[in-house]
Amino acid sequence: MSSTMTTSALMKNYQRLPITILKGKGSYVWGDQGVKYLDYTSGIATCSLGHVPDYVQEKISEQLENLWHVSNLYRIPQQEALAEKLASLSCFDQAFFCNSGAEANEAAIKLAKKYAKDHQKPERTEIVTFSNSFHGRTGSTMAATAQTKIHNGFTPLTPGFTYLPFNQQEAIEQIDADKTAGVLLELVQGEGGVHPADVQWVKTLYAYCKEADILFMVDEIQTGIGRTGSLFAYEQYEIEPDAITLAKGLGSGFPIGALLAKNKAAESFSPGTHGSTFGGNPLAATAGLATLEQITDTNFLEGLQEKSLLLTEALTKLAETNSLIKAVRGKGFLIGLEVENKAGVWVEKLREKQILVLTAGENVVRILPPLTTEKEELFTFIGVITAIAADLEEKGE
Ligand SMILES: Cc1ncc(COP(=O)(O)O)c(C=O)c1O
Repeated sequence: MSSTMTTSALMKNYQRLPITILKGKGSYVWGDQGVKYLDYTSGIATCSLGHVPDYVQEKISEQLENLWHVSNLYRIPQQEALAEKLASLSCFDQAFFCNSGAEANEAAIKLAKKYAKDHQKPERTEIVTFSNSFHGRTGSTMAATAQTKIHNGFTPLTPGFTYLPFNQQEAIEQIDADKTAGVLLELVQGEGGVHPADVQWVKTLYAYCKEADILFMVDEIQTGIGRTGSLFAYEQYEIEPDAITLAKGLGSGFPIGALLAKNKAAESFSPGTHGSTFGGNPLAATAGLATLEQITDTNFLEGLQEKSLLLTEALTKLAETNSLIKAVRGKGFLIGLEVENKAGVWVEKLREKQILVLTAGENVVRILPPLTTEKEELFTFIGVITAIAADLEEKGE
């Protein structure tokens, strides 16, 4: 295997970067040429405890010795323990497990429709989502995603989605309660450019949904499991959603997704209504449980908030003196730098200096450090990006 290896037998749906990563530990990954990179992508907000975290590795290894998979026709103690842990840490009562973010959102969409039917409102079949959102790539979640660039080439879209403007008061006035089963939104839009939802807007939307008995569902696939500085982003909005979806950070890189819901909604998933072969199998549930144990360990989230403040303050200071940086947005370790030029240029320059970051659209550099990153690593990152910003400004690139 090498960086130049042919990928001809793979479909070309991913635009791959010119490096091949073979090993990871903590905040670092190593390429096939032996080059070490500081990984501030975290596998797109997934390896939140860094790469191959010791405790999770230990727990998965133990589980590998005993049982990998058993179907959901049987009780799975690891899955029950994970559900209980999630319920004890949130405002939710029940969990459904699956394998990815899109699959978790599929479950949420189905739950909202079923809830409406079960509550004598069969005409409520629509799900409201918001401009610039991202909810996944499957049929329904692509249709839920309110971005035409994601839809291109795939029409007709799955019907049943209404798109309203994000962060706009008028959106709430436009909801048709007679037709709407649920609302699905991100509290910090990740793929859409790192845009936090306005607290007052969310509270008003939430109050409206509560009053109208429309399920209020938050897509926490990118924001959840500590990424924004609290275990769940909804905690920062003083709301208690009816349901949230999780994936990415829940398994430290082991594939797992989840839908959490309050009893009143969860009861609509009666036996036979929904399922997933691999969902919450012993290995995945073990990874989830071990990850949560680490993230909810004493002082973990406080430490993260402190580190996040350090990084955002440094970036904000940089933005004040560098004309290429228009804005610094985000929460916790989900940070976006809106730049005048192409975000891809910054990603490339940082990669040349052995630091990996992402884009979020054309003009946003997305920075997703592992939640475990050390202050020293943050100082390295700040130093390198400051030098790159000065260089790009000087050259007018
Ligand atoms: C907010 C949000 N929802 C859903 C998804 C889809 O998750 P997955 O790629 O695991 O299907 C993503 C992935 O980036 C996401 O960021």
